This record gives sequence, C-alpha cells and structure tokens, in this order.
Amino acid sequence: MARMFPVRRTVFLRYFGMTLESFNIDLGLTADCARPIRESRRQGMKGNREQPVQENGAKGERTEEEWRKYHYAKLYRKFIGITLVCSLVPLLLVGWAINIHYTRFAKTRMTESFQTEVEYHKRIIELFLRERSARLQLIAQTHSKEYLKEMGNLAHVFEVMNQEYGSISDLGLISEEGGHLAYVGPYDLMDKNYSQTFWFKNVMERGIFVSDMFTGFRKVPHFIIAVTRQEKGEKWILRATVDTEVFRALVENVRIGKTGEVYLLNEEGIYQTSPRFTGKIMERSAMPLEPFHDGIKIQVVEPDEKNPKAKKEIVATAWFRDPGWRLVVKQEYSEAFDEVNYANYATLIFLHLSALIILIVSILTTRHLVRVIKNRDIEADQLGRQLMEAGKMASLGELSAGVAHEINNPLAIILTERQILLDLLDQTTNVDEGFKRELKESLNQMDVQINRCKRITHNLLRFSRRTRSVIEKIDLNSFLEEMVELMEREAKSSGIKFLTNFDENLKPILSDPSQLQQVFLNLITNAIDAHDGKPYGTIHISTRADDEHQKVHVVFADTGAGIPKELLTKIFDPFFTTKAVGKGTGLGLSICYSIIQRLGGTILVKSEVGQGTEFTLTVPYQRPAEVQEGVAARQTG
Ligand SMILES: Nc1ncnc2c1ncn2[C@@H]1O[C@H](COP(=O)(O)OP(=O)(O)OP(=O)(O)O)[C@@H](O)[C@H]1O
Ligand SMILES: [Mg+2]
Repeated sequence: MARMFPVRRTVFLRYFGMTLESFNIDLGLTADCARPIRESRRQGMKGNREQPVQENGAKGERTEEEWRKYHYAKLYRKFIGITLVCSLVPLLLVGWAINIHYTRFAKTRMTESFQTEVEYHKRIIELFLRERSARLQLIAQTHSKEYLKEMGNLAHVFEVMNQEYGSISDLGLISEEGGHLAYVGPYDLMDKNYSQTFWFKNVMERGIFVSDMFTGFRKVPHFIIAVTRQEKGEKWILRATVDTEVFRALVENVRIGKTGEVYLLNEEGIYQTSPRFTGKIMERSAMPLEPFHDGIKIQVVEPDEKNPKAKKEIVATAWFRDPGWRLVVKQEYSEAFDEVNYANYATLIFLHLSALIILIVSILTTRHLVRVIKNRDIEADQLGRQLMEAGKMASLGELSAGVAHEINNPLAIILTERQILLDLLDQTTNVDEGFKRELKESLNQMDVQINRCKRITHNLLRFSRRTRSVIEKIDLNSFLEEMVELMEREAKSSGIKFLTNFDENLKPILSDPSQLQQVFLNLITNAIDAHDGKPYGTIHISTRADDEHQKVHVVFADTGAGIPKELLTKIFDPFFTTKAVGKGTGLGLSICYSIIQRLGGTILVKSEVGQGTEFTLTVPYQRPAEVQEGVAARQTG
C-alpha cells in the first residue's frame, strides 16, 4: 500500500460574504476543527440577532454537539434561502414578464382578428344591399313606366334581375298615389295601396329607400328596396322585396366558434335577423341602444346585476348608414381568448413545476453539501489529531536522535573498558577457572547488549540524519544476488531459503547503491523476522523491467506471519514495531519509505495473515531531476 503523507491545504469558500470555515482543513495551522463552531458561538455572544448562546438560559451553554447541529442547521437554511432567492425570483420575474407580454400580444392579435371578421361581414352585407339598390335604380332609369306597366315586360325584368342571384322575391311598379300599376310575385297585392305606409313616404322624399324588416300585408318578415323616377312630370316607384331567406342566410349562417353569434339590429334595437342564441327576428334585443358611430367598436361586456349568470363577452358593433342597421358580432370572452388562457395556464403550470423542481433540487443539493461539510469536518478532526500525533513523534524522533548521539560515546568507552577487562582477565592467572569463565560469559553478554544498543542508536541516527547521496550505475540483479549471499547464512539458521527470479533484460539503472542496500537489507531482515516461530519458509525476490515507464519493479515476497489489515497503514510510521522490546526500533520501514521516495520510486505492500507478505518497490531507471533538486536543496539547507 503506497504511503501518502497528508497534504497541507486550506480551502476557503467565500459564499455571498459567508466563509465556510468548515472546509478549512489547514493541517499546518491548526488542529482545532471545532473552530467554526466556536466562531459562531463567539458571534452569538457578540449579540447576534439569533442569540444562540442565551437560548438555554439558566440551563447553561450548549454542548459542542449542539453547537455543531446549530451551525449545520444555520448553514442549511442559508444555502436553501440563497439558492431559492437566486433561482426562484429570476424565474418568476421572467415568467411573469413573458406571460404579461404574451397575453398583451395575443389579446391584441385576437381583437384584430375579431375586427377583421366584423369588417368582412359588414362589407358583404353592404355590397349585397348596394348591388340590389343599384340594379333597381338602373332598371328604373333605363325603362319607362309605359314599358314596365306591361306585365310581361315587368316579369321579364324580374327574371333578368333574379337570373344571377335569385334574391328578389317580388317586383312592383307603383304610382304616385300608392297603388300597383304592375306586380310580379307570389302574392296577390295588385289591389293594395301603399300611400299610407312608412316606406312609401320615405321613398317619395328620398328617391331611394331600403326599409327595416317588417311584416306588411303578407305577414312575413321582409324588407324592401324602392326607387322613384320622375317621368313626364309624374313620379312612379319601382319596389323590390328582397328574398329574406337569402339575405338572412348571409348573416345567420356565419359561425364563430361555439358561442359566437352575428346579427343585425335596427335603430330601435329590433332584430333584423335571427341571432343564434339570444332571440328571434323582429323581437326586441336586450342589448342597450347605442348612438351611431363610424368604424368598428369593440368592447368587453361584463355580466351585470340583472343577469349575473351571463358570461363575460367580447362584442363588436358596426353601423350601416342606409338602412340604419347595427351589425353585432359577439362571442364569449373565455372562448375568444381560449388560446391565451391555455397559454397562461401552461405557463403557470410550467412555472409552478419549475419552482417545485428547483425547491426539491436545492433541498437535496444542500443536504448533500451539508453532509459533505460535516464529513469534511470529521475528516479535519481526525487529520488534526493525526497531525498532533505526528508532531509528537517528530519531536520524540529528534529527541531520541540527540540521546542516541550522546549515548554512542559512552557505549564506545564501555566497549573499550570491557575489552580492557577481558585482556586483564586473560593475563590474570591466580583466579579460579570457574569464576574466570563466568566473568567472561558476563563480558560476552555485555558485548552482545552493547552492540544491540549501538545498532539501535545507529538506526536512530540514520533515520534522523541524511547522508549525501551518490548516484551510480547499478546492475540491480547482481546487486541483489550479493545481498542474498550476504544474508543467506543468517536465513539458513532460521530454516529460510531464498528464491530469486531476475529479469535478464534489466539494464543497469542510475541510483544510489548504499541507500538501496539499506532498503533491501531492511526488507530482507523483516522477512526473516516474520518467520519467527516457523521452522522453515522462503523469501522470493524478483525483478521486472518496465521499459515503457522506465522503471524496475523489485518484489520481496515472504511466507512469514503476514500483517493484519488494521496494521497495514501503520507499519511505515516511525517507531511502529510489533517486535519485542529491544528487538526492533520500528524505524526500518520508515527509512525505506523515505529513501525510496527520495529516489523517485514507490513502495507497496500486500499481506495476508498466516500466508505472507509482499513488498513491491518501483525504482525509476534514473532518479527524476525534481527529486534530485529537492534532495540537493535539503542537503545543502
Ligand atoms: N515481511 C514482514 N512480515 C510481517 N510483518 C512485517 C514485515 N515487515 C514489516 N513487518 C511489520 O512491520 C513492523 C515495522 O517494521 P520496521 O521494519 O519498520 O520495524 P521493525 O522491523 O519492527 O524494527 P527494526 O527495523 O528497527 O528492526 C514490524 O514490527 C512488523 O510487525
Ligand atoms: Mg525492520
């Protein structure tokens, strides 16, 4: 497993003026991870609006845990508030603006199309009436009374008039006195006198007259067009009855949606055509009378108190000059603006859905974010504790190195003194042999123990002091072979065999042989020690060239006791050892780690308890320049 040193980093997140100090994992500055909590507590003491400290009143201050909870809850609320304000407000504003703009635009378009419709129908009706009046006038001007008096001639004219459109139901020639001179049509009207009728007086005055709808002698709603002509000092009238069916169809057959209706009213508000829903021809309309106006008037009529059940309507009116009729086109407001309403509903639904989605997403994201911050805080707590431990260990290391250095000299003196004692003992003859043997044994034991002490102090010094690095060409295979030969004797006594599998294609590498030797020796010693209690075992050493990455992999696999999982992360720590007191210093692997790192390589470990351990070293063919510079800087500094 590669050893990773904690990275020193500080992440400050300023978010709308708020510092998320929970992200602060500056291991170099502080290990106090409860700082954000304390900060907020301090703010609270300064008289924060929310007064969090005083909340418990007499019960005392909040616990650390409560403070954390309070802090995260506050963070949560702030995040959600900011996200919602920053996303919902613009969304609603834009939605609202688009909606208003669209509604205005669509209503204008609708009103315009309504107006076009009314104009179109008005023009058709006008054309119809004007065309019939003009034709009647033309006949009166081009034919004499004498000619038209002949029934056959009038019938011929009637036929010609109806040839194209078939919209005249009868035609009569009427004298100044009001009696018929000739008549063509389905009714028996020859003996009728019109001198007292409203239209007779009007046409005699104006020369041309289009009447309102009336029932007249025939008792059916109809209207007439009449023209006069002055001929040889006397006036006569040509009168045509317009075919009501044809005329009414022109208006009544117009369909506008489901609720639309089109009809004509005279000046007194009497229906001139039957409306689709609201009444019948010749009945009085409920619509209020209105004075003549030019152009088209469009208004929205709200239901009044008299008829609260009525629907809101859009009503367009246009006046004809002659006859004085009012064209009315109306439709229920809701239907006319159906599309606009639909678009409005759709926009509203869309807006609400978007708002809901934003709300859900911001809640989920904030929850996740707060959870991440919580975890970061926990991590920072742990890292802080680790850092404190590491700091302690570092000081302890320095202290031990100093002590080791100081102890080295007395040890050397003790060894010399021991040698003197031994020499003196050899020279002394008058001493009992048994006593001499015992003394020698004690002196030998002293030698063993002093050497052990020296080894410990030596290791300690090696760990704390860096020696100058010498880079040479190394044939790693033969280098390892030599190491195996060196260690074979010691291994054999423990029943351990060395197996080697070297890559023959491995070319010499450029590295530091003395440092590599130290690493290999440490690993082999550890592997031998791992077989403690086992009668036999193997240490398998192999090399593999990796030309692609310009690296060599060196593997040390043993069949020793293995390392429990929970200890795998600790074995590289300085002074970590599972060996008995006095047997191991716990510095071997940490020295290996720092050497390999300085040489630009990596060290990985895999282990299975009871089966063995495998250390894999990766050493570059050539030590990278940046590592060299770093080392050089450290060496000189
Ligand atoms: N090959 C291995 N098999 C099993 N355990 C190992 C092996 N190598 C290392 N260890 C474990 O890692 C610990 C640390 O090893 P390290 O070399 O750093 O110190 P040490 O061997 O205990 O002491 P020193 O190296 O000073 O003699 C060892 O005590 C041992 O528990
Ligand atoms: Mg060791």
